[in-house]
Parts: sequence; C-alpha cells; structure tokens
Amino acid sequence: MQFGMVNSASSAFEAARPTPRFLVTGAKGCIGAWVVRNLVRRGNPPVIFDVDDSNHRLRALLSPEELQSVSFVRGDVTRLTDLESAVDGHGITHIVHLAALQVPACAAQPIMGAMVNVIGTLNVFEAVRRRRDLVKQIVYASSAAVYGPEEFYGARRVGEDAPPYPGTHYGVFKQCNEGNARVYFATEGISSIGLRPWAVYGVGRDQGLTSGPTKAIKAAVLGRPYTIRFTGGLDLQYVRDTAEIFVRCAELGLEGARVYSLRGTVTQTSQFIETLTRLLPQARGLVRAEGQPLPIAYDLDDSALVRDLGEVPRTPLEDGIRETADLFTRLHREGRLDTRDLDT
Ligand SMILES: NC(=O)c1ccc[n+]([C@@H]2O[C@H](COP(=O)([O-])OP(=O)(O)OC[C@H]3O[C@@H](n4cnc5c(N)ncnc54)[C@H](O)[C@@H]3O)[C@@H](O)[C@H]2O)c1
Repeated sequence: MQFGMVNSASSAFEAARPTPRFLVTGAKGCIGAWVVRNLVRRGNPPVIFDVDDSNHRLRALLSPEELQSVSFVRGDVTRLTDLESAVDGHGITHIVHLAALQVPACAAQPIMGAMVNVIGTLNVFEAVRRRRDLVKQIVYASSAAVYGPEEFYGARRVGEDAPPYPGTHYGVFKQCNEGNARVYFATEGISSIGLRPWAVYGVGRDQGLTSGPTKAIKAAVLGRPYTIRFTGGLDLQYVRDTAEIFVRCAELGLEGARVYSLRGTVTQTSQFIETLTRLLPQARGLVRAEGQPLPIAYDLDDSALVRDLGEVPRTPLEDGIRETADLFTRLHREGRLDTRDLDT
C-alpha cells in the first residue's frame, strides 16, 4: 500500500516535470545519428544542429516518418549566434554536443580544427551561460585521444585521473575542452559531462582515424578487400551503446564538471580481423591490417561511469559486428549502401 502511494506520488512528479528538449550538435555524424535515433525511439525527437546539408547517416538509420519528427537547424558551432538562436527558438533544455572535426582533419588544418573543436565547444558553454536557468545539462564528446600511448601509463588500467598526454592536435583540443568545462563549473556553476570514447564502430562510422574496423565490416559484406591502417590494441565500442550512454548521461542531471572514460571490447586489431572473418568467412584473406599501433592508451577504466550511471550498455563485439553487417547487407539490398568511404 505504502509502495503504491510512493509510486503514484512519483508518477505525479514525473507528469509535472516537463519533457527535456534536446539539441544535438553534429547530429548528422555517426554518433549523432544514433543519438537522434535513440531519442526518436524514446518518443522525444530532438533538434538537429549541423553544418552539413546531407542526411545520409540519418537516412540509413531512421525511417522517413521518424526523420519527419525531428527539427533541423543548419548551424555552425563556430558561430555563437547560430547556437543561441537554435536554443532560444526551440526551448532547449539539454545539449548533446558532438560537432567536431576528427583527427585527420585537425592534423591537416589545425587552425580550423581549433575553431570547430575548441571555439565551437566554448560557444556551447557560452550559449548556456547566458541561459543557465533554461538549459539544465550539457553532455559533450571528449575523447580517449587525451591519453598518451599505452606504455606511458605502465601495466595498469588507465583511470580518468591519469595524466593526459595527447599526441595529436585533436587530443589537445579535447583536453582543452575538458579544462574549459571545469572552469565553467568553478566560475559559473555550469554542470557538464564529458565522455571519452575510444573507437566507435557501427553503421555511419565512415570517417576518422579509427573508422577502419567499420569499413572492414562493410568491405566484408561486399566481398571487397580492405586494409585497416593501424595495428595493435584498441577498444571497440558499439555505436548504439555509445549513443545510449550520451543520452542517459544527459538525463542524469549530475552537478559538477565530470569526465568519464567509456569502455567496450578491449582487443587487438588482429583479433578483431579473426572475429570478423569467423563471422563473415567471405572476408578471409581480404581484410588485413598494417601500420603502427595508435599512440593512445586503450585499456581504460570505466568504473566511475558504471558507479554513476548504473548498468552501462556493452554489446559483445560479435553481436555488434553481426548487427552492423546485417544492417549494411540490408542497405546494400535496397541500393542505399554508401561505399564512398571504402576508397578513402
Ligand atoms: N567516433 C569515434 O570513435 C569517436 C571517438 C572519440 C571521440 N569522438 C567524438 O565524438 C563526436 C562525434 O563523433 P562522430 O564519429 O559522430 O563524428 P563525425 O565526423 O561522424 O560527425 C561530426 C559531425 O559534426 C558536424 N560538424 C562539423 N563541423 C561542424 C560545425 N562547425 N558546426 C556544426 N556541425 C559541425 C559534421 O557535419 C558531422 O555531422 C566528435 O566530437 C568526436 O570527436 C568520436
């Protein structure tokens, strides 16, 4: 009886609480498209904020009806006014900030990289600073690229408090964002959560340093040769899980400037290829890896995330490869599989 009373009180509270209104920057990217899909399927279609005009990843993951339910804002995170008008125009209460240039683009054009990755993130915090009564939560993508090579940390699992030692401009920009988030909390009381994925894989992962495993799955489905451009250890995180973690962190409403590492399947590139060719035997002899290991520690401790989030989704690698291959196969059958990334 008492239990029932508690329940009805809490559902009255739930009913009184307004539904969060999400703005997702970089929503047309890989993780973004899965975050949008997640929110749409929760019955809470978000506002998409992206500079890109094409919808190819969203179209691969959402039905035309689902796509119609979301609002699109063409905007550039390097322009504060674009963000401010999106937040004001749509009554935004939660921001998932994913817009960024990836490692190769930041290496080729560091100034542009800093504009998008650092100034763009500052703009998100500035937009919130001016509306902090309205916007309750920022979750932003940091990266495992803030860490140095595995050897730098010795033979131990690397925690969030381990010293960053990024070996790329991209990693330095992400480290800078984490520092700015800390200062915004200390000086303005703006809470945020930064998440550090390693190598996200799944449909939509068609660019960036660690997109090789996903491209290998696509090539395997098509029976084409593919070479992953690195060897050694990696942590493969299925994109559906990553998206779910971003959304759940946004809903948490924790105070502070928190940063969490993510952890999926810690493995070796050679083992990934072995698993792939066992699941898709037609790939045997076609998928290989060459090059140096990536200089980023890959055995990361996610116990802080597990502590604060509760159960963390962790799709086993075999299931993630199967789901990805099935979705690629379906898209191929329907004549909708984009294969341009296999040539890059
Ligand atoms: N994919 C991974 O394995 C991985 C690992 C660690 C961190 N991350 C981080 O997660 C986030 C999302 O990664 P992803 O793989 O989905 O990236 P992605 O490259 O697929 O998507 C990035 C999106 O940002 C948009 N964008 C770029 N510049 C913009 C601008 N100036 N204004 C508005 N939008 C802009 C792009 O159009 C694109 O849709 C990024 O911040 C990335 O650094 C990704």
